Amino acid sequence: MTMEEKYIHGVHQEEQDRLRLLNKLTNKAYLEFIQVASNSTILEIGSGLGIIAGSMAERDRSVQVTGIEYAQEQINQCPTHHPNLQFVQGDAQQLPFDDAQFDVVYGRYILEHLNNPQQALQEAYRVLKPGGIIYFQENAISLMRVFPECPRFQEVWQQFITLQAQLGGDAEVGTKLYSLAYHAGFKDIIPAFAQEIHYHKKGTLNGWVDNLIGNIEGATDALMEANLVTTETIQQALQELEMLKQTPEASSYFYWNRITATK
Ligand SMILES: C[S@@+](CC[C@H](N)C(=O)[O-])C[C@H]1O[C@@H](n2cnc3c(N)ncnc32)[C@H](O)[C@@H]1O
Repeated sequence: MTMEEKYIHGVHQEEQDRLRLLNKLTNKAYLEFIQVASNSTILEIGSGLGIIAGSMAERDRSVQVTGIEYAQEQINQCPTHHPNLQFVQGDAQQLPFDDAQFDVVYGRYILEHLNNPQQALQEAYRVLKPGGIIYFQENAISLMRVFPECPRFQEVWQQFITLQAQLGGDAEVGTKLYSLAYHAGFKDIIPAFAQEIHYHKKGTLNGWVDNLIGNIEGATDALMEANLVTTETIQQALQELEMLKQTPEASSYFYWNRITATK
């Protein structure tokens, strides 16, 4: 991480709990997205609590999985019982690996936090073997919609774009994935959307809304310090989200940007 970058969510326990919840809600679809051959060497950049990397190591014991993560606090929470899994402390923009080491490099919700996501894609390209594949899933947070509408929530949510930019990141990086892969030299680049749709009958709306609430609560101090919101706006936004949880006909629509590409 460079001096200009500051990780928007932090690594305190409430945030780690939110990240675990987000993993619970979204990992099945993401793991289906990442297809790896037996005996592959795999690198996850920005591996967080190591939950996906742990699942990758468990679902095929013939693969070797490495996670690279900037924060030691996150690595301390990672699984340690898989012989084919290791975590390394380091920066996704300056990978501590030799060229052409990995068959697959993947990452999720990481490029948005970097001040040079292009460099991260170039590093992914460098450490991939020829023919190796990348899988990324990232945010473009303006793609969020809920109904009944929550105008104060949308107001706060939009301010995450400004805050993330001030912290050196890019909350809209998802729509730039194709371009980033193109400029890093990848071929066969395929962009896609993965839908994240929740409603009560599906049983997942409250968990998803709790994740949104956690996002806002975790960033409230930073949003206030940057004069992007008032206490009143935050309170109203949180009230609107609590109302969604009690509204039987409520629904929420979000779309992750994905990319696969080949070296
Ligand atoms: C939102 S979490 C996502 C973690 C994981 N990919 C997941 O989906 O659960 C982003 C992670 O990226 C890490 N991170 C931020 N900047 C980084 C950098 N420059 N290099 C490596 N990791 C970084 C953070 O510490 C955090 O653990």
